Amino acid sequence: MTVHQKPNTLQTDSFWMPFTANRQFKKAPRLFASAEGMHYTTVDGRKVIDGSAGLWCVNAGHGRKEIAAAVERQLMNLDFAPSFQMGHPIAFDFARRLAEIAPKGLDRVFFTNSGSESVDTALKIALAYHRATGQPTRTRLIGRERGYHGVGFGGMSVGGMVNNRRAFATHLPGVDHIRHTYDLARNAFARDLPAHGAELADDVERLVALHGADTIAAVIVEPVPGSTGVLPPPQGYLQRLRQLCDKHGILLIFDEVITGFGRLGTPFAADFFAVTPDMMTTAKGITNGTIPCGAVFASRKVHDGLMTGPESQIELFHGYTYSAHPVACAAGLATLDIYKDEGLLTRGAKFTEYWRDALHALKGLPNVIDIRNVGLMGAVELAPRKDAVGARGYEVMVDCFNRGLYFRTSGDTIAMSPPLIVERSHIDEMMSILSDSIKRAA
Ligand SMILES: Cc1ncc(COP(=O)(O)O)c(C=O)c1O
Repeated sequence: MTVHQKPNTLQTDSFWMPFTANRQFKKAPRLFASAEGMHYTTVDGRKVIDGSAGLWCVNAGHGRKEIAAAVERQLMNLDFAPSFQMGHPIAFDFARRLAEIAPKGLDRVFFTNSGSESVDTALKIALAYHRATGQPTRTRLIGRERGYHGVGFGGMSVGGMVNNRRAFATHLPGVDHIRHTYDLARNAFARDLPAHGAELADDVERLVALHGADTIAAVIVEPVPGSTGVLPPPQGYLQRLRQLCDKHGILLIFDEVITGFGRLGTPFAADFFAVTPDMMTTAKGITNGTIPCGAVFASRKVHDGLMTGPESQIELFHGYTYSAHPVACAAGLATLDIYKDEGLLTRGAKFTEYWRDALHALKGLPNVIDIRNVGLMGAVELAPRKDAVGARGYEVMVDCFNRGLYFRTSGDTIAMSPPLIVERSHIDEMMSILSDSIKRAA
């Protein structure tokens, strides 16, 4: 049964909402009541097409009954089991199935409950790996400006989105950042991967010269930064990053929390770019957004580097109560079945061209200063209003929501990533609502 509760009957005071302008929101709440396929339904019964797969996570579309059934079965059979010095079979099955779809060589899987936890886990593994393999001076972690790696202290520290850092003065020590690749002057309206900027990867050399390679543990980047407004990497950039990390013995971590599980028309961005990192952090689409879950995929080199010492000794003093939660594993296995049966991990590739053309058709609308796309990710960047960065983006977002389209914004950038079950007619519908709203916000 779907409950459609009118917003004005709701007590909104207690819920301190994440990443939300609470006071503004609570004056005029935007509330979803149910969801199916490509659509949400609001509490007042309006259908809203989902242009962002929830928060980049509902890759197989909403309301998948197979996942719900698997979750129910698991809850009735084994609701919880510890994974510290105990185990349960479904966790091993899930890890094996994930290893099967992972880029070659990244077949050791550590479970977490979110993207933030995956990031912090990968950073800790990188530090522990170097210590265990005789390079304990490698303690420095390198992120990238405009990166988003979640909200733990590790992820926040290597992250490079100013607002996510500024209020929290304390960061991890020994963190540095390479430059971002956002470059409207050279790359505005590039289709797919921008032509300019591969040389920005050489910033790793700058930090090596500054700090010494023997102090650097890992470089972490999103193959395609999402939360900062969808920034496809310049052609050749990630390849260069891989070469430089190899040259200097630095581990390369791809944060695939958004790009994992089919977003670019390949299972992972590592496949799309044919660049294999040493570790990959994931979450979101791993359970189709249904049950919190994340996973770090590690190479054999990294994993085996830590499988040393006496067999009775715990190799990595790290883990979460809910690592490999049986219900998350059940949801994840059901999700992987759907991805496989419906070919969703590669389906996006068939729509890339249509998606790209539909997005770029918005060029020329008022205030559109850039359009970016790769796989089934897309962004339309609007010129900020004078002295009100983000205001125009917010206005377009609210107007679209009122007229039947939901998506995320980052400042004045509209970021889109539809569920991978999207059809051309859905893309047409999204672009039609969006272009009207952009005109209205002129
Ligand atoms: C690249 C990336 N890393 C990490 C995270 C954090 O994930 P979570 O919100 O599940 O902690 C996100 C969330 O959007 C993300 O996009």
